[in-house]
Amino acid sequence: MNFVVAIDGPAASGKGTITRRLADELGLTVLPTGDTYRCLALEVLRNGYGIDQIYEITELARQLDIQFRNDGEKECVFLDGKDVSDEIREPAVAKVGSMVSSIVKVREQMTLLQRRMAEGKNIIAEGRDMGTVVFPNADVKLYIDASEEVRAQRRYKEYVSQGIDITYEKVLKDLQWRDNNDKHKEVGSLKRTEDAMYVDTTEMTIDEAVEKIKSKIITKMKHKNEKKEKSTKLNNETTREKPAKMDDYDPIDM
Ligand code: DC
Repeated sequence: MNFVVAIDGPAASGKGTITRRLADELGLTVLPTGDTYRCLALEVLRNGYGIDQIYEITELARQLDIQFRNDGEKECVFLDGKDVSDEIREPAVAKVGSMVSSIVKVREQMTLLQRRMAEGKNIIAEGRDMGTVVFPNADVKLYIDASEEVRAQRRYKEYVSQGIDITYEKVLKDLQWRDNNDKHKEVGSLKRTEDAMYVDTTEMTIDEAVEKIKSKIITKMKHKNEKKEKSTKLNNETTREKPAKMDDYDPIDM
């Protein structure tokens, strides 16, 4: 039985970093679904499609060939066998990613792709609709948040460290546009739900957030394992009892 942790939250809330740390410490496979939308955006840009070319974009989504591989140091994203890890971080790709993710038909394809990528694995998936649409029966659901200013600062620092030439004001404006777009979609919009644990990282370090969440996941994992062991034991006992019952059966008594 698979174990699924579903993490949702707005851009630059810290969910990506927290997800990777939790995956390393708990031995889970990371599924960064934002990267799947970013890969699709890259394909749209490469093909020069307009956002209204819904049929063409949905076809691209259907044919996406994405792999997440660890090169020993970091997680890399491969699209059609080529490393696009840096390219998909560009601000323009992020914007088109949010735009294509508003198309209902595209989301249907991406949901199928993400479920396929999770098959047979114990995963920690992060995005905007993990707990609401893609994995509604996830074992643990989380919503990770932070104030708009703190998120814009984090994203700005990230861009600067990658050598991307951008101002803080532009990062803040892009973030506000993306938040608004991500929260107002016909399908799969970012929502904070009651069944998800809410973690605000505005005044928290990554270490603090990881510790807080880790204990919850470990408790759930133990609980699920215990349940599995109990049901296996019960199944074994039932099968062992059957021959004993057959021995009691005496056809002459009938
Ligand atoms: O998490 P991110 O910033 O890498 O995501 C890029 C875009 O993809 C984001 O603006 C919204 C979209 N997205 C989505 O609609 N659903 C997801 N599950 C993940 C991302």
